[in-house]
Amino acid sequence: MKVLALLLLLWAATAAATGPQIPKFPGRFARPTFRNNPAASAIGAKYEIRYFRQRLDHFSFAELPDFDQRYIIGPSGGRWAPPSPIFFYCGNEGNIEWFSDNTGFVWEIAPRFSALIIFAEHRYYGTSMPFGSKEKAYKDAESLSYLTTEQALADYATLLIDLKRNLSASDSPVVLFGGSYGGMLAAWMRLKYPHIAIGALASSAPILQFEDIVSPESFYDIVSRDFKRESSNCFDVIKKSWDVIEARGKHSDGLVSLSREFKLCKDLNNTQELSDWLDSAYSYLSMVDYPFASNFLMPLPAYPIKEVCRKIDGFSDAADILDRIFAGASIYYNYTGTVECFDLEDDPHGMSGWDWQACTEMVMPTSRSKESMFPAYSFNYTGYAAQCFQSYGVRPRPTWVTTEFGGHDIGTVLKKFGSNIIFSNGLLDPWSGGGVLQNISHSIVALVTELGAHHIDLRASTEDDPKWLVEVREAEINLIKSWIDEYYQESSYSI
Ligand SMILES: *[C@@H]1O[C@H](CO)[C@@H](O)[C@H](O)[C@H]1NC(C)=O
Ligand SMILES: *[C@@H]1O[C@H](CO)[C@@H](O)[C@H](O)[C@H]1NC(C)=O
Ligand SMILES: *[C@@H]1O[C@H](CO)[C@@H](O)[C@H](O)[C@H]1NC(C)=O
Ligand SMILES: *[C@@H]1O[C@H](CO)[C@@H](O)[C@H](O)[C@H]1NC(C)=O
Ligand SMILES: *[C@@H]1O[C@H](CO)[C@@H](O)[C@H](O)[C@H]1NC(C)=O
Repeated sequence: MKVLALLLLLWAATAAATGPQIPKFPGRFARPTFRNNPAASAIGAKYEIRYFRQRLDHFSFAELPDFDQRYIIGPSGGRWAPPSPIFFYCGNEGNIEWFSDNTGFVWEIAPRFSALIIFAEHRYYGTSMPFGSKEKAYKDAESLSYLTTEQALADYATLLIDLKRNLSASDSPVVLFGGSYGGMLAAWMRLKYPHIAIGALASSAPILQFEDIVSPESFYDIVSRDFKRESSNCFDVIKKSWDVIEARGKHSDGLVSLSREFKLCKDLNNTQELSDWLDSAYSYLSMVDYPFASNFLMPLPAYPIKEVCRKIDGFSDAADILDRIFAGASIYYNYTGTVECFDLEDDPHGMSGWDWQACTEMVMPTSRSKESMFPAYSFNYTGYAAQCFQSYGVRPRPTWVTTEFGGHDIGTVLKKFGSNIIFSNGLLDPWSGGGVLQNISHSIVALVTELGAHHIDLRASTEDDPKWLVEVREAEINLIKSWIDEYYQESSYSI
């Protein structure tokens, strides 16, 4: 079983041949660039890294060790002064500098609002480790038990209140930002802490991908649609390849010869490992099928699915299917041409925080329909839970997220209760299937782009941005401006 990385979360459980992965969010592929933030430097901004002593358990009075939460604050030396706004990015499941680097939108628009920018790191990721080290934090179910969404939101709330006090900024409105899992956090934080933030831009936030709210097949159906849209031949070749791989694995020496053919660093133990690795490539390609070259998950050309399909389609009809598949996958895993061999173990430490989250609160049922380009599979909660118990000694609580944050009949609920949230989604993004795609009220707005991929609106602007992308960002800026204007009017401040 694999867990889809949210947002780029793909679950890498080393399971045997059971079903699909838990979709991964982007976190586990974080290859951060440290000193030099392209998003910030594009606008000539510098930032500082600071640490805030954070409480381990916000919901008990037990005497537990504190930990240092890392946050980015910028632009330093800027003209920000209260009561100008604070833009607060809710950190996802990964190193916060990586998200800051890849969220150019916030850096670019902050000057228009004279806003201060904060990117807060999510506990148990990056350097924000309880118990002093990743090893200790990830030791067992007990040490991991403070890795929850509720604790992370409470961290953000506590951090913001303390920061505003230190900066004498109690009157500064806070606007939340987030993409993917971070977008879920931004939306949920707006709903849970309305006294702390006046609004949230939740980009590609699949807050409905729980229980039976949306179809469990949506993720892989969208990936498949993205490939078919490019080329039905490409879709067919990929769809056929799974059986070919499995059949090859049954030959004597089949695993060894597959390992050679796919230039793997270590020989396969079963064909599922290879299938999961290919599955990840196609899933991530759908997430980052951007109209410009990018280096978010991997260095990739513009329209990467088109490039993959161009490779696959470029062979003669008589060509070996696996040669085609290898050539296609190499676009994703070896675009720079510098990889000597492929290492299928993308989580060398054996424990990624998202896998834990997927085994506790973030249970996003994932199936594959017969119509998809993947082997059909029905989500099997019993098997999922058994694997979680085996990996972490915990049993998931699949109904907790909707108990805590809602999700069922969200339109009716939020129309009466919520305000000032933008849910933006691109329909190429496989996570859009779990997103809010319809307007809920005049201030809970869905901005949907047909050709957008995973939180494309949060990326830095480029020369190659299509018109629809420029327009959706303008719409977001106008909505954020209206929230801020209204706040100042109602609290009788003026900028
Ligand atoms: C606020 O100031 C105190 C005292 O200097 C410091 O310990 C704390 O970390 C600051 N808070 C934040 C959010 O940086
Ligand atoms: C196959 O299993 C061995 C032993 O568990 C492991 O060390 C090796 O990395 C596995 N190979 C792959 C490609 O995962
Ligand atoms: C990566 O690409 C380069 C250049 O095309 C090639 O020489 C190398 O063999 C490729 N690596 C793998 C693992 O396929
Ligand atoms: C679900 O998984 C359990 C445990 O792995 C297994 O016993 C059961 O047969 C599976 N059910 C289906 C319908 O595949
Ligand atoms: C929601 O309303 C906005 C106007 O506020 C509009 O631009 C947008 O297209 C609507 N979204 C959907 C999905 O209809």
